[in-house]
Amino acid sequence: MDSKQLKLSTFDDALNHIHDNMVLGIGSGSTIELLVPKIADKVEREGLDLIGVCTSNKTDYIAKERGLKIVDVNDVDHVDVAIDGADEIDGHLNLIKGGGGALFREKVIDSMARKFIVVADESKTVDYLGQTFKLPVEVDKFNWLLIAKRIEKDKNVKAIRRMADDVPFITDNGNYILDLVLYDKINPYEMHEYLIHLIGVLETGYFLDTAEEAIVGTQDGVKIQYKDE
Ligand code: A5P
Repeated sequence: MDSKQLKLSTFDDALNHIHDNMVLGIGSGSTIELLVPKIADKVEREGLDLIGVCTSNKTDYIAKERGLKIVDVNDVDHVDVAIDGADEIDGHLNLIKGGGGALFREKVIDSMARKFIVVADESKTVDYLGQTFKLPVEVDKFNWLLIAKRIEKDKNVKAIRRMADDVPFITDNGNYILDLVLYDKINPYEMHEYLIHLIGVLETGYFLDTAEEAIVGTQDGVKIQYKDE
């Protein structure tokens, strides 16, 4: 199976978490973009009363196009279930996210969910965070270079401002993304604590102790991993 088929193989299990009268957090990325039409089909087929909150403008647009009822996150007081993709998943269900630049809104919605479920293909599973993916960090445009230089001075990392073609990538919040090349196997909790206190850092792409379940499509079938299994 190719990567798209592996992603699709996770959807039956993911859709089982969707019920009537719920607030659903809808994540971002190519996996979720494949899932949204399946959610819309289920809602229509079963006549579900479902309200969605989206982690990016792109998902918001796609979900509304498919007829889902999407509201602003400030208009809900809870999220029952959030379903999102990931760039890396370690053995403790800690994640790196933000490959699509949506990490801040993802963190808001995924963290407030009573249950946060990750869907991914097996290429995303790693032994430790930073093994295959750079760590995205959303930073203010005003002092982005000062932040990048400070991080490189304090830590053994390279901080690269993300580009989109020839221009800097801009997040839905109007900020830049620094992608940190982590040369060492580091403690993600310590690195997050360090980064989050730098003035101008909005959020990091570490999602630690937030996911409860990962549904992973593998060549040997779908594997479901639970937090601290
Ligand atoms: C978006 O900012 C990311 O966190 C995505 O959720 C993550 O990159 C997974 O994307 P894919 O489903 O495209 O792999």
